[in-house]
Amino acid sequence: MKYLEGIDTAKPISRIGLGTWQFGSREWGYGEDYRTGVADQLVARAAELGITLFDTAEAYAFGESERILGRALDRCGMKEQAFLATKLFPLLPVAPIVEQRGRASAQRLGVASIDLYQVHQPNPVVRDGFTMPGMRRLVEDGTVVEVGVSNYSLGRWQDAERALGRRVLSNQVQFALTHAKPLDTLVPWAAEQGRIVIAWSPLAQGMLTGRYDAAHPPTGAVRAMNPLFLEENLRRATGLLDALRDVAASHDATPAQVALAWLIHHPSVVVIPGASSVAQVESNAAAADLDLTDDEVAELTAQARAFRPMPKLETVTTMVRQRLPF
Ligand SMILES: NC(=O)c1ccc[n+]([C@@H]2O[C@H](COP(=O)([O-])OP(=O)(O)OC[C@H]3O[C@@H](n4cnc5c(N)ncnc54)[C@H](OP(=O)(O)O)[C@@H]3O)[C@@H](O)[C@H]2O)c1
Repeated sequence: MKYLEGIDTAKPISRIGLGTWQFGSREWGYGEDYRTGVADQLVARAAELGITLFDTAEAYAFGESERILGRALDRCGMKEQAFLATKLFPLLPVAPIVEQRGRASAQRLGVASIDLYQVHQPNPVVRDGFTMPGMRRLVEDGTVVEVGVSNYSLGRWQDAERALGRRVLSNQVQFALTHAKPLDTLVPWAAEQGRIVIAWSPLAQGMLTGRYDAAHPPTGAVRAMNPLFLEENLRRATGLLDALRDVAASHDATPAQVALAWLIHHPSVVVIPGASSVAQVESNAAAADLDLTDDEVAELTAQARAFRPMPKLETVTTMVRQRLPF
């Protein structure tokens, strides 16, 4: 496993983490065995492989993901080493509510302090000037070690830092070969300032594994709503998927591993892929040791920038048409 370098944190942060939205969430369609057994095995194996970064949120299965993750880390005895990241669902993120939510998350995770407490999304009405004083108090009383944000623009990330009066360590955003926009401003700023970009859905929910097509769609409601799995978008991604397969073949790796390696080639970036099996956790962890050449990175970046999924309106009409019973 590789760990972030050059950023001072209380615990090492693995470049490959584990996302746990799937834990306890019906919308991924993984069933009861996953909730009650597989999730535990994923956490134990991840920790054994040196993964320290575990990402969850109070919104995932209404707190159940936090409970499952906390218990799984207790069972495998790896809670001390884990860098636990969770998120506040910012319904009314004013200071007293932020404090109360933070303490509730710590309790569900079964920890005295949360390593990284993130605001899940920017609230369009409540500015960070109202939210961050709550975060500051959580840091001051030791409930939270580091503050993060998620789905923030660069400007709002910087505003959040001013409102907090100290660093906002990370911004968790959609970042994958299908969503290369963070390369423009967030990634360079993070690298320059010693901040972290956490890439969510780094495998585009499995689309970048090349496993799925119109005849073989993925499980669950989350991905039924993900336009990337529409036949037209899979067709538009042919160049990107072919490039991934080519690079993968030359390293004896899988397209998923190359997709993760491309992300962590950027020094300020870490990834938090979700997983449906222990084998996937093992394969994702191994991607930390896959070194791509500069030419390979350049080719993949060019393919990522060239990928144009269907525009929003066309996507909506296509999805509605597919669901009509005639
Ligand atoms: N901050 C936010 O707003 C936000 C939003 C979304 C997600 N997140 C976080 O980001 C994490 C990851 O995102 P995500 O789960 O949406 O998408 P993802 O990590 O891109 O995809 C996860 C899915 O890809 C498949 N997969 C994983 N490893 C694989 C491998 N090695 N080979 C083949 N298939 C593999 C699995 O599904 P199958 O095996 O079923 O195909 C798995 O459930 C979440 O768990 C969550 O913690 C945050």
